[in-house]
Amino acid sequence: MLKRTHYCGQIRPTHAGQTVTLCGWINTYREQGKGLFFVDLRDKEGLGQVVFGIESCPAELVEQARTLRREDVVGVRGRVRLRTGGANPKLASGEVELVAESIEIFNKAEAPPILPDEYEADKISEETRLKYRYIDLRRPRMQGILKTRSRITKFTRDYFTNHGFLEIETPLLIKSTPEGARDFVVPSRLHEGQWYALPQSPQLFKQILMVAGCDRYLQICRCLRDEDPRADRQAEFSQIDLEMSFVEREDVMEMMSGFVAGLWQELFSHDVGTIQRITWAESMEKYGIDRPDTRFDLFVHDVSDIAAKSDFQVFRNALEGRSPTGRAGVVKCLRIPGGADKLTRKMTDAYSEWVKTFRAGGVPVVKYTAAGFESGIAKFIGPIAEELKTRLALEPGDMLLFAADSWEIATKTMGELRLRVARELGLIPQGAWNFVWVIDFPMFEWNDEGKRWVALHHPFTSPNPDQLGTLQSDPGACLSAGYDLVLNGSEIAGGSIRMHRMDVQQRVFELIGLSSTEAQSKFGFLLSALRHGAPPHGGIAFGLDRLVMHVVGTDNIRDVIAFPKTQSGGDLMIDAPGPISDEQLRELHVRSTVAPAAPTAAQ
Ligand code: AMO
Repeated sequence: MLKRTHYCGQIRPTHAGQTVTLCGWINTYREQGKGLFFVDLRDKEGLGQVVFGIESCPAELVEQARTLRREDVVGVRGRVRLRTGGANPKLASGEVELVAESIEIFNKAEAPPILPDEYEADKISEETRLKYRYIDLRRPRMQGILKTRSRITKFTRDYFTNHGFLEIETPLLIKSTPEGARDFVVPSRLHEGQWYALPQSPQLFKQILMVAGCDRYLQICRCLRDEDPRADRQAEFSQIDLEMSFVEREDVMEMMSGFVAGLWQELFSHDVGTIQRITWAESMEKYGIDRPDTRFDLFVHDVSDIAAKSDFQVFRNALEGRSPTGRAGVVKCLRIPGGADKLTRKMTDAYSEWVKTFRAGGVPVVKYTAAGFESGIAKFIGPIAEELKTRLALEPGDMLLFAADSWEIATKTMGELRLRVARELGLIPQGAWNFVWVIDFPMFEWNDEGKRWVALHHPFTSPNPDQLGTLQSDPGACLSAGYDLVLNGSEIAGGSIRMHRMDVQQRVFELIGLSSTEAQSKFGFLLSALRHGAPPHGGIAFGLDRLVMHVVGTDNIRDVIAFPKTQSGGDLMIDAPGPISDEQLRELHVRSTVAPAAPTAAQ
């Protein structure tokens, strides 16, 4: 068998005169007359040109070459020479070519259903590309993404192990515990009627590793959450999972800031600088969201006090209303500089329709021009015109978009509108990296359906050290020691200082409505560990896939995962999920309530 001596994409003028062997896939082939036959051979490092029919090239070799078709797998041995027909500046190996002396055809390929070609990729449906993922992954862009992802995981391991973190694996078959999303579950064969759950994250295991004295833990792990996939969310995704002992919030944030600064330096030679911080409350007020995109200066303003002086019924209704948590209704406003000319009636009408998805009534608008307030709700602005002008520092040409509703709905509406307007007006600078830490989250949010508090992060997140009193007296106002790292408006990591004291942990369980019996049955192991010497500890998890998305510049999470699931959670290549046999079901002590599905094409 011919053995590779060089990668196709790595032959250079310095190799001229050397005899080398390249192995790879036929990318293209063409006959140039006079018995000359050219092949572009591809491997993970790129393309290299091979020419057949030069000088002493035996006729049988040219004949063999003529049979080659796209995606055949071959090895070619020959001599490297400078190209005689002129260099190809588009290829890294474009100054040289390989003059073939022998070939071994390892495998003929059937006519490919798709081509691993960047020009073709956009024209092929994603479903087809996922079905033939092994061909799609041959594309240079996909190979590039896989390499970048591997570079990121290598950097991660180096950085954290250099800081004393131990890489430790935690189990995949665990017990179902409420941690936010729905669990994937696995029936046990040996324990009739019992089920394992697949981990949504290694949260409790990493805490227990701290109790076990491991001090600093790292794992690049799979997490499984039975939730609907989205552009930046998969049911099966990867985390860079970390935990540290004897630390406070500052220590964890500093370690993690150092990690992203080092990574951006390594990948882009970019200085991240000091990462800004914002409290959750400020983020919600200014940006309408808990993961603010700080790349552009559009801000939300609460103008409830001013709006109260207008007799616009929409404002009045909102201000008189209250949300289920008892929070008063609000009037919020987004000032769009220059928006009077740029935002058309058609656009603002579309916003009014769209915000209904956030349960908002609509988007009242008004323009501010040299002549004063115009169009939209101008006639209601009269009595509050001066105050609005001063508060918002209005300039002629500005446009105001309002949300008048409960605090929750108005905030969400403003946050979403801010992003949409910025996208539509092209306000988001390309190439900017805006990192921001969000801190001081509320411990709980009110769940109106269940009429109880739920943990905003997860129920192992500690209150801030100065908040222990508030946890007792006013849980709704209690701030947590949680922190999220946000990059360009996307949450790339989330973590917290945990509760290492039993009494505090029990109080939180109580507040979220877990009786001590339930807490014992679900988290008995954790409570037991906390009783047996738990150090103060805290950690964080980065969404690895999201991190890679930012680095490679895609907004589709499936681009950065070798074998992703579709929007409906399927794997089109292996045709999963699929039915299992009655025999398997019996063994697992499970009875199906649905009629057996027809066998799928792959079976
Ligand atoms: P959390 O649930 O915030 O925290 O997850 C941490 C990070 O993982 C990423 N992420 C996802 N990425 C892709 N698809 C998903 N479905 C998905 N869900 C989350 C996000 C997020 O910031 N155990 C805690 C961490 C801790 O407290 O240490 C946890 O899992 O980037």
